[in-house]
Amino acid sequence: MPTAISSAPQAIRRICCVGAGYVGGPTCTVIAQNCPDITVTIVDVNPVRIAAWNSAPDAEGRLSGLPVYEPGLAEIVLACRGKNLFFSTEIDKAIEEADLVFVSVNTPTKKSGVGAGFAADLHYVESSTRRIAAVATSSKIIVEKSTVPCRTAASMRTILESNSRPGVRFDILSNPEFLAEGTAIPDLQSPDRVLIGSLDTNEGREAAARLSAVYEHWVPKHKVYTTGLWSSELSKLAANALLAQRISSVNAMAAICEATGADVDEVAHACGLDGRIGPKFLKASVGFGGSCFQKDILNLVYLSESLSLPQVADYWRQVITMNEWSKSRFAQKVVQTLFNTITMKKVAVLGFAFKKNTGDTRESAAISLCRYFRQENALVTIYDPKVPEAQIWMDLTEPGVVDDSIEVRKQITLAPSAVAACVDAEAIVIATEWDEFKELDWASIYAGMKKPAFLFDGRGIVDAKLLRKIGFKVHSVGKGPEIVDPVWA
Ligand code: UDX
Ligand code: ADP
Repeated sequence: MPTAISSAPQAIRRICCVGAGYVGGPTCTVIAQNCPDITVTIVDVNPVRIAAWNSAPDAEGRLSGLPVYEPGLAEIVLACRGKNLFFSTEIDKAIEEADLVFVSVNTPTKKSGVGAGFAADLHYVESSTRRIAAVATSSKIIVEKSTVPCRTAASMRTILESNSRPGVRFDILSNPEFLAEGTAIPDLQSPDRVLIGSLDTNEGREAAARLSAVYEHWVPKHKVYTTGLWSSELSKLAANALLAQRISSVNAMAAICEATGADVDEVAHACGLDGRIGPKFLKASVGFGGSCFQKDILNLVYLSESLSLPQVADYWRQVITMNEWSKSRFAQKVVQTLFNTITMKKVAVLGFAFKKNTGDTRESAAISLCRYFRQENALVTIYDPKVPEAQIWMDLTEPGVVDDSIEVRKQITLAPSAVAACVDAEAIVIATEWDEFKELDWASIYAGMKKPAFLFDGRGIVDAKLLRKIGFKVHSVGKGPEIVDPVWA
């Protein structure tokens, strides 16, 4: 059982966060907001990213140029920046001055070498750890914030101890971040729990208590739990694997619902009423995306195989297999329904982010759908309220692999609004659950489309009955066929 921390010795005064990405940026911004007595400096090797974090407010006083979009984030950055929150490329200086360093760098899936396609690429963690060792002239607490494979802390400790200056000591903690994108600020302001893993030594416990004291500025003490280092590292992978498994489970049910005429929302609701199951994270969808779920499960698969546990590896691999199948099943449904061909047909894809309220597209289901539609020679028009156009092009081309950017632009266009994307379309595909898609003027969109006008709701957000009254042929993921309509018979 995790144990609650009891005391908080020597206060942390200066924090450095290495890595100004989706995790480091919001997390340390919220720390700065809640800890006015602590100076927080977020550093990154990427000067463009740091310049964006330091960008000036627009004419209306809003910070619209930040590299990470999260509701509520810009306001906090604006309030704290230049006071106790700084964004900088002066990495060595910030490390040197800090009592505590968060390592929040990226840990993508390895692309080559041993474990390619599964294991986490720890190159960025290692290089930032080496830099900390090289620069530090005073003792520090080093905190793994990035999601890392189990026992990464041991490698970090070996690197730090082998390269540190005499008299400099490093205590390593694991403090995984559980925030979800799009709700990062509320997740950080009132987390379900803060997990701190440490070595079970006096020094380890003291370091954990010092980090706990930082969180206790705003998180109730009973929500801060300490565990062993390895449990903490594994808990993050385990939590993401369990969440992803839940979605794959409900998406598997969605396929049964479509075949039987049941309604997946009703089934999920009925199941969620059981207190042991609970109502959250049971929304059927075209498939999960995001930077974490797939990466962390692949990591778990690799870990299981490395530990000679092939049955465990197969078990978790199936969560990804089901997700891939959900995406291709949905894409195939579009083609089948449009009379088995979408060649030269205009398909409007609404939403490109992997979920609403974020501009992040990593592993977004929309990318898979657009690629599938391209292979079927469709003309695809994409609209997303937050994803930058350059990002969409990057996701749909293969820069550095083949120069297909001209070919892609013959088939894909980007629209300035959902309404514009749907003009003359034969089918609309809702790939992200943006709230604005629920409030569109569907009657006028219908009037501007080719007939029959199809709508495929990959997120279960529109009122299918209402749209059918307007004239749309609607397919919602996990909803049984419309028996009265011969198209769905
Ligand atoms: C996830 C974890 O939730 C978070 O705790 C961890 O720190 C990082 O990984 P994130 O990837 O940001 O967060 O988003 P999340 O809300 O978990 O959604 C992931 C994907 O699952 C999205 O594509 C979302 O649309 C999908 N999803 C989520 C569903 O399809 N159905 C659901 O019921 C919930
Ligand atoms: P995450 O989602 O885990 O936050 P991101 O890719 O959004 O991942 O952010 C990670 C950030 O870490 C990037 O901005 C990258 O430039 C930065 N980074 C990677 N390696 C280092 C390093 N050695 N020193 C400083 N910053 C680094």
